[in-house]
Amino acid sequence: IGQEPLKVMISGAPASGKGTQCELIVQKFGLVHVSTGDLLRAEVAAGTEIGNKAKEFMNAGRLVPDEIVTAMVTTRLSREDAKQKGWLLDGYPRSLRQAESLEKLGIRPDVYIILNVPDEILIDRCIGRRLDPVTGKIYHTKNFPPETEEIKARLVTRPDDTEEKVKSRLAIYKQNAEAVSSVYSNITTEIDGNRPKEVVSNEVDSFLSQLQQDKVKGPKAE
Ligand code: AP5
Repeated sequence: IGQEPLKVMISGAPASGKGTQCELIVQKFGLVHVSTGDLLRAEVAAGTEIGNKAKEFMNAGRLVPDEIVTAMVTTRLSREDAKQKGWLLDGYPRSLRQAESLEKLGIRPDVYIILNVPDEILIDRCIGRRLDPVTGKIYHTKNFPPETEEIKARLVTRPDDTEEKVKSRLAIYKQNAEAVSSVYSNITTEIDGNRPKEVVSNEVDSFLSQLQQDKVKGPKAE
């Protein structure tokens, strides 16, 4: 009995909760999480050539040039673990050109999830966001404060999480959202991301569980 692994894309405005939901999806479904934001931040931290190029765009709240990001994503998705376990693509594609690059390579997800959250909430979420550089976990000063003083002391703020830059990121998201989602309109599911994260993740969970069941091919063997 063949079971194709799940292929999932998650999209939504800055701070709509993509990274937060991905942590939970990975725990449950074991998919390979490919976040272009995380990959780029790792390149910046390591001071690589890609990182040095990407840095100025990211810090200005603008998109990094397509060539850089697309090469990164396609390389990562072609690795064996992503083929075996399935993948969860977070933050890509972000422009029509990026979506078309994947289409040309025959890379298509089973589902395109959009997290919807009102603008004023997004800004507050970005401004309060903190990251744990040790575990990679995402916190929020009010919504999800760190568990211990030790963690609290090492949390960092992203340089693109100022109000001004969030507004610019949001505007760029809005410019592209419709064109990108039109590529996936027949496999899109929209989820209200403006609810407690457990409520959102329960909905994502039951959706993906159903999808996984539907993908099991042929009759079940004893
Ligand atoms: P990226 O890292 O992808 O940033 P983003 O899309 O702006 O998304 P965020 O990471 O800000 O938010 P999120 O939706 O993951 O929310 P989170 O879960 O953290 O990209 C960064 C930059 O890299 C881009 O600006 C660009 O320069 C470049 N880049 C990346 N991909 C690119 C591409 N494809 N092409 C070109 N350039 C690219 O949650 C946010 C906060 O809210 C947290 O504090 C969290 O604790 C809190 N929160 C989460 N869920 C809830 C909830 N349900 N209730 C209350 N609070 C919540």
